[in-house]
Amino acid sequence: MARDLSKMTNIEDLRRVARRKVPKMFFDYVRSGSWTESTLHHNTRDFDPIKFQQRVLVDMTNRTLETTMIGETVKMPVAIAPTGFTGMMYADGEILAAKAAEKFGVPFSLSTMSICSIEDVAANTSKPFWFQLYVMRDREFMEDLIKRAKAANCSALILTADLQVLGQRHRDIKNGLSAPPKPTLLNMMDLALRPQWCWHMLHTKRRTFGNIVGHAKNVSDLSSLSSWTSEQFDPRLSWDDVARIKDLWGGKLIIKGIMTTDDAEKAAKSGADALIVSNHGGRQLDGALSTIKVLPDIVSAVGSQIEVWLDSGIVSGQDILKCIALGAKGTMIGKSFLYGLGAYGEDGVRRCLEILYTEMDTTMAFCGHTDIKKVGKEILVPGTY
Ligand SMILES: Cc1cc2nc3c(=O)[nH]c(=O)nc-3n(C[C@H](O)[C@H](O)[C@H](O)COP(=O)(O)O)c2cc1C
Repeated sequence: MARDLSKMTNIEDLRRVARRKVPKMFFDYVRSGSWTESTLHHNTRDFDPIKFQQRVLVDMTNRTLETTMIGETVKMPVAIAPTGFTGMMYADGEILAAKAAEKFGVPFSLSTMSICSIEDVAANTSKPFWFQLYVMRDREFMEDLIKRAKAANCSALILTADLQVLGQRHRDIKNGLSAPPKPTLLNMMDLALRPQWCWHMLHTKRRTFGNIVGHAKNVSDLSSLSSWTSEQFDPRLSWDDVARIKDLWGGKLIIKGIMTTDDAEKAAKSGADALIVSNHGGRQLDGALSTIKVLPDIVSAVGSQIEVWLDSGIVSGQDILKCIALGAKGTMIGKSFLYGLGAYGEDGVRRCLEILYTEMDTTMAFCGHTDIKKVGKEILVPGTY
């Protein structure tokens, strides 16, 4: 039976519980941005100055947030972003988050760097999910990943374009991030404080990178994300590869990590079905602008040719509504759902989605709208965006 989480009234509540329950190494991995974390903080902060216009005495019945993202019907314009190590926030985390997303009616994306494999998630869900691809030097392995995603009936491929080199997050180095954690004294002491996490983890066999172990050749040190990344991620990846990947995949393609109009135009020309305005949640290029700041220019440059989505910094339904008002057709959430997952597993992800839904729905109503598809800039105060 689903737990009553009605006292969890906002994402910050879920974050606080996750902080208590999840081993420090993995909580830090989620919450961190690169270097000074200036982009991480601006991503969220830059939503604040954008203000809504209150409207009154409008019939508010029959409201709907239902729309489509790349032709798929969604209960609200939000998808679960691909995140690595998710099965370390909570045992079998990817499966639990995919189930919560499926029941709620929003898309789930599985990372290349997930703990549960593509096949595991497919076997435990009934709706097609999206697969996020990191391009590796080992092209045979990459092609195999694409084939596996096809065989698992994934309905879109997300090509992440902003991680050819890894942004440094200080805490990951200091904590010695690895999956599973190494049995050091400090780790043992930390795990002793999280009995529930340990209990669940003892009851799953999924404790390292399920898409990679047993599939990739020459994997020398998979327990360390940074060494794996520098060894295996392909720094040569370029726009020329996009057409080849699109051909190999043969289905819906989404390009993730666009921050300029020039790159947005290239993404639109590449024939992709959607692009995601993303700075990887402030985890890659520190000192970059927030995504909400660059959204309006990108929408006006390519919004009529390709679906423009946004992620990075979303912590409320109001943030999502601001994105939609500024022309995004969809959004993705990373940290917000991970905090729900770390706090309460599948129930926590469901609660995260409920919170965002309610916040978005109520705000839309205050702004005088009943249908998300009709929301535009008119709900925002001119001069605040
Ligand atoms: C813990 C964590 C792991 C991530 N791993 C991946 C990944 O494996 N692939 C990817 O494309 N993006 C990854 N991202 C980026 C997310 O897909 C997304 O762009 C970002 O989380 C959005 O920002 P938000 O966390 O502020 O919502 C990760 C983000 C987080 C927080």
